[in-house]
Amino acid sequence: NKVVLAYSGGLDTSAIVPWLKEHYDCDVVAFVADVGQGAEELAGVEEKAKASGASECYVVDLKEEFARAYIYPTLKTGAVYEGTYLLGTAMARPIIAKAQVEIARKVGADALAHGCTGKGNDQVRFESCYAALAPDLTVIAPWREWQLDSRESLLNYLAERDIPCSASATKIYSRDANAWHISHEGGELEDPWNEPSAQVWTLTNSPEQAPDEPEYLSVTLEKGEITAVNGASLSPLGCLETLNQLAAKHGVGRVDIVENRLVGMKSRGCYETPGGTVMMAALQAIDELVLDKASRSWKSQLSEQFAQLLYDGRWFTPLKQSVLAAAEALAEKATGEVVLKLYKGQATAVKKRSPYSLYSEDFATFGADEVYNQQHAEGFIRLFSLPSRIAALQQQGGGDG
Ligand code: ARG
Ligand code: SIN
Repeated sequence: NKVVLAYSGGLDTSAIVPWLKEHYDCDVVAFVADVGQGAEELAGVEEKAKASGASECYVVDLKEEFARAYIYPTLKTGAVYEGTYLLGTAMARPIIAKAQVEIARKVGADALAHGCTGKGNDQVRFESCYAALAPDLTVIAPWREWQLDSRESLLNYLAERDIPCSASATKIYSRDANAWHISHEGGELEDPWNEPSAQVWTLTNSPEQAPDEPEYLSVTLEKGEITAVNGASLSPLGCLETLNQLAAKHGVGRVDIVENRLVGMKSRGCYETPGGTVMMAALQAIDELVLDKASRSWKSQLSEQFAQLLYDGRWFTPLKQSVLAAAEALAEKATGEVVLKLYKGQATAVKKRSPYSLYSEDFATFGADEVYNQQHAEGFIRLFSLPSRIAALQQQGGGDG
């Protein structure tokens, strides 16, 4: 028997390795997805996995693919969950699950395991992706089976087996980091009447400590994709990393929300998405120029649909393909340039232009012009308001009854 475990090097997955071996009489292959969580988290992860008893450890660099094939498509849809959450954790789950399945095929495993709790969204996301990609593989979710429910019991479990672990007994926050964002949950955040303390935030400067001078940057867009920052052409990951750095300095991209989890409960989360916040603002600015009224309204429906399906782990579905195809059609004209001003936690689009802009000073001006005859407005308004007129006339005349 062979199990491929989505391994992070943290306390939970370190304990899962020996636990799987004992309870499922199997070899455990550790799989580590590098989605841009940073060198600190990845340092020595292979040694840690082996020390926990993994027979093999695969670290797979997914960063470029994550940016190109998961983050950029999502950006095109404008997806935002419940008004503010830019979906960073949700976006990473499908690519991690897909790469994990690939490793399972490669090593001939018969099961997949993950370290998500039984109370969260992530278990649903991972397992929905497994279902779509590898319905034949068994899924093991130790958190739903074992009785190890505190950090102390996990540390004891490892100590009893002489497995070294550098994790401390007290860790305040549960965090999840990748190239797009970092999330923070737990600790004092569990009470929504507590303001997040300064140690919650790890990526961005506080707006208070951000520079007193604003910084301007320009972003180039082609068909809904950001292709250059300050004139330098970069890969999707390159654009994201550059914008992360600039925006984090100015305290851009902090969010604090109480959200509805898929499993029914509410949870409080703080998120930092500096570069992503700038990207969203740039795309929105171009949409303002190139999308007509009905298209914008349609786009906002697509955004909502995509946010829901992504949050709920429905990445590998025809629904996602179809909503994305619609968003890509709308993004055909999302080409141009946007200048943004970063200042004290805000990213504001202050200049925007596009070869496909529908905005025309000539048409908007109040002078005489060819395409817009003000006298035509009278008939337009007459018919546009006809239902109101008919209803009011009927009221006045007492109807026909
Ligand atoms: N609440 C967010 C979401 O559902 C973040 C989850 C963080 N996950 C984690 N394993 N720490 O997308
Ligand atoms: C977890 O419970 O594993 C993390 C939080 C979530 O998935 O919502």
